[in-house]
Order: sequence, then C-alpha cells, then structure tokens
Amino acid sequence: MRRLQNVCLTVAVTALVVSYAAWSSLTATTTLGTSSSASRLPLGDLREHSTVCHASLQDQRTFLPSNNDSSLPTIFFITPTYPRREQFAELTRLGQTLMHVPSLHWIVADDNPECNPFLTEIFQKFGLPFTHISSPMPSNYRKRYFVPRGVSNRRAALKWIKANAASGVFYFGDDDNTFDLTLFSEIRDTKIVSMFPVGLIGEFGVSAPIIEGGKVVGFFDSWPADRKFPVDMAGFAVSVEYLLQHPNATMPYKAGHEEDQFLKSLDLKMSDIEPKANNCTKVLVWHTQTVKKPKHNLKVPESIFSNLRTLLEKLVSLGVVQMGAEVSGKEVYMVVDGHKNEVTKRQVLGLS
Ligand SMILES: *[C@@H]1O[C@H](CO)[C@@H](O)[C@H](O)[C@H]1NC(C)=O
Repeated sequence: MRRLQNVCLTVAVTALVVSYAAWSSLTATTTLGTSSSASRLPLGDLREHSTVCHASLQDQRTFLPSNNDSSLPTIFFITPTYPRREQFAELTRLGQTLMHVPSLHWIVADDNPECNPFLTEIFQKFGLPFTHISSPMPSNYRKRYFVPRGVSNRRAALKWIKANAASGVFYFGDDDNTFDLTLFSEIRDTKIVSMFPVGLIGEFGVSAPIIEGGKVVGFFDSWPADRKFPVDMAGFAVSVEYLLQHPNATMPYKAGHEEDQFLKSLDLKMSDIEPKANNCTKVLVWHTQTVKKPKHNLKVPESIFSNLRTLLEKLVSLGVVQMGAEVSGKEVYMVVDGHKNEVTKRQVLGLS
C-alpha cells in the first residue's frame, strides 16, 4: 500500500514538473510576429523568438560616478552582440566604459538561441543595471546575400523598452565601437532624436549631419543609397517618450537600410533633429572593428598543467578557441628558455 502511494506521488509530481516545464518554456519565449515584406518565405523560419535571460534594475556598482544623480534621465544603451571569438573581450571593454556613466541601463541582446550564462555572469560583475536578452536571428534571414545583422536583437531590446520604460533616452551602441564619455552627457537630454558624427565610417572616414544655423540640412556619408537619413546606427539617440508615441515604429530586416527606415517609421522630420557634439563638429563615437581571425582548434594533450587546463576550458566556454586531441588540431607547446617544450606535466617534471 505504501509503495503504491509512493508511485502515485511520483507520477503526480512528475506530471506537475513536466507541465510546469512546458508552461515556462511557452511563456519564456515571446513571438514578436513576422515581417510582411518576406511573407513568401516559409513562415516558421521567419518567426522571432526572444527571451529575457536576466534583468537587474539595481545599480550595484562599487564605484559610482560622482554625478550619479537619480533624477537624471536614464540612458538605455542597446548592444546587439553575437557569439564569436572576440565577444567576451569586446563586452568587457564596453562594460568598463559604461561603468563610468551615471544613470544607465545596459540592454545586451545576444544573437543566440540560448541564454549564455557566462554573459549574465560578466554583466553582474560590472554592477550596472542590465537586461540580458537571447534574440536569435530567424534562420531565413541568415541565408540572404546581405544578412540583416543585429536586427532581431535591436527589435527585442525595443520591445523590452516599450514594456518596461516610460522615459529616458535610448541609443544603439555596438560592442566593438569606441565611445567618448562626453557622448552620454550630450545625448541624455534628447527630446525627440539627436544626431552627431560617427568616425571611421565608409570611404569618407566619417558619417555626419551637416549643420547650418544650428539645424541639420543634410548628411555627409559616402553611401547615400537613396536614404533620407543616411546615418550610422551609432549616430543618433531617441527619446523613449517619442518612441512610445509611435507604437508602429519598427526596424526592418533590411541590411543597410535599418537606420533610415527606423527613423522614417518614427515620423521624423529634418527640423526635429537635435544636433549634438558642438553642432556636429566633434567625433564622440568611433566605428572601430576588431579584425576577425578564425577560431583555432588546439590539439591539447590529456595531461597538462592544471592552470592551463582551467584557462583553456574557460576560453572554450567563451567561444575563443576550440580544443581537442584530434590530429588536425594546432600543436600547442610551452616555451622555456626560448625553446618549445611539450606541455604535458610529465615532461615538465623532467626539466631541471
Ligand atoms: C550651434 O549653432 C547655433 C547656431 O549658430 C548656435 O546658436 C548654438 O549655440 C550652437 N551650439 C553649440 C553647442 O555650439
């Protein structure tokens, strides 16, 4: 009798756990809808799924900027990122820039179907308020000749802002760009949309609004492409209130035209634009890029120094290297007195 009771209990508990798991996976994944422009493609592969992996609203920085006035409008700094060799290096550098900025909420949306726990971990270390989102690009867009990178991520971040913010300013800052801290005090009082130069863009070396009498009259950009607003993603900031007043504003999956079409969808007029950076005479953001190198596959023997094992395993989990014992892998070695040595422990003990 007792055994039967136990079995019944186990069955009931299992059923509960299974249905909870099914329910939570349903609620954790939000479908944002599909783009009409690509409706001839199979629907399933265009569907957006984004998950808020972790959100922390508390400012837990150990060293707060001296001007961390809580009455300052919040800057929502939106960073699309994606798994690659350089991801953690870039986010470490950017996070430590953002640590200097008062009243900032960092939204990092990863082009990754999984919530990478190592990302949540480094964001917690910075102490900044942050939201970590998993927002993989729908697979069909990946097959396009011009892949609309970062769009699913920015769309997911905008969705989070619409659901969670009532005021402040948002800005799209890529993980590999370089930001002058002055940029943040410049954009913080954006009423509608502010604009400013971005260095290292295109064949002109810069993309910038052209100003006359304190107003934007045109743009300096080497890729016009029939765009009304030929600006870089890092070249403008938008008021959250203004976004909320335009519920249909959206960023299309159209490589090269995301900025222009997003700004058009906000009903932006040239006369609304607020020039920043001393009437667009200064570069406060640079479109730096890390040159991409392939991820190497290292041929690592079983028995190696424990610190090296720990270090390499960490780098594998961060996506920097691959490691295995396959013949095809790149030989690794230890340098002692300028000479290559085997990296196995046994070998080392033999050294005098
Ligand atoms: C920008 O130019 C306008 C018009 O010349 C001027 O009134 C304004 O003070 C300038 N702003 C800055 C920050 O220099």
